[in-house]
Amino acid sequence: MLVNATAMLQAAVKGHYGIAAFNTNDLEWTRSILLAAEELQAPVIIQCTAGAASWQQGFKVVKDVVEDLVDYMNITVPVAMHLDHGSYEDCFKAIDAGFTSIMYDGSHEPTFEMNLERTAEIVKLCHGKGISVEAEVGGIGGVEDGVASSGELADPDECKAIADLGVDFLACGIGNIHGLYPDDWAGLSMDRLAEIKAKTGDLPLVLHGGTGIPTAMVQEAIDNGIAKINVNTDLQVAMAKATWDFVDSGEAKKGKNYDPRKLLKPGFDAIVARAKELIVDFGCDGKGWA
Ligand code: 13P
Repeated sequence: MLVNATAMLQAAVKGHYGIAAFNTNDLEWTRSILLAAEELQAPVIIQCTAGAASWQQGFKVVKDVVEDLVDYMNITVPVAMHLDHGSYEDCFKAIDAGFTSIMYDGSHEPTFEMNLERTAEIVKLCHGKGISVEAEVGGIGGVEDGVASSGELADPDECKAIADLGVDFLACGIGNIHGLYPDDWAGLSMDRLAEIKAKTGDLPLVLHGGTGIPTAMVQEAIDNGIAKINVNTDLQVAMAKATWDFVDSGEAKKGKNYDPRKLLKPGFDAIVARAKELIVDFGCDGKGWA
């Protein structure tokens, strides 16, 4: 059974650990994430952007695949099916498809007032259906599925205004960027995180762009209120590297390794291994039903 993400994230805030939120691209990706989470008894959030959902033929297919795999694989840890960076319109589609958690990313709306208004509407709708809601203040740098942002430090007063709408967790820019970090990246602003935390209390905070941040820095952010860490590129790179190595070694062309179950296996094994490392780094291993 899929759950919403509220209880697991509130437990993470109390227990000072972070929940991994991994983006999925297809059935094998989802299966690899579930294998890692179950093996380490970690609660997990599987999330999907509208772009990745469209690649998989729609939100309903993504949610059905996650739900059926949880059932078929006898997954015992809590699993939430979350919309990542939903536009206002995407939110309604994902809700209809049965997602248990929704991110409405209003940070790209023309005004903050519109972000507030629409977030309030989505919160009301979702809470009536038992669905958890993530909102965003302050664009996250980099390019996420064609949505670019110059990146900024979120305004703590705006974070408070959105938090007061009753959102379940909040993404706030603290110098993080989607994708690979440039060599001259300044790092996360722990000062800004502390200012936001001071205004938002026990509300779980979300760190987007979880790829490539030094582990100690992520752990410091977790100590200071980050409860959900979004990771996408990291698993893509792990998958691609293992596949390239398999091809470069010449193994991919031997025997029946044209069979996709053989050709893609090293890549999917690499996703399981890397997801497990990240789960341990974030401290959510063994927290299945914390
Ligand atoms: P990365 O691709 O940088 O890991 O970011 C993922 C993310 O924040 C999804 O919302």
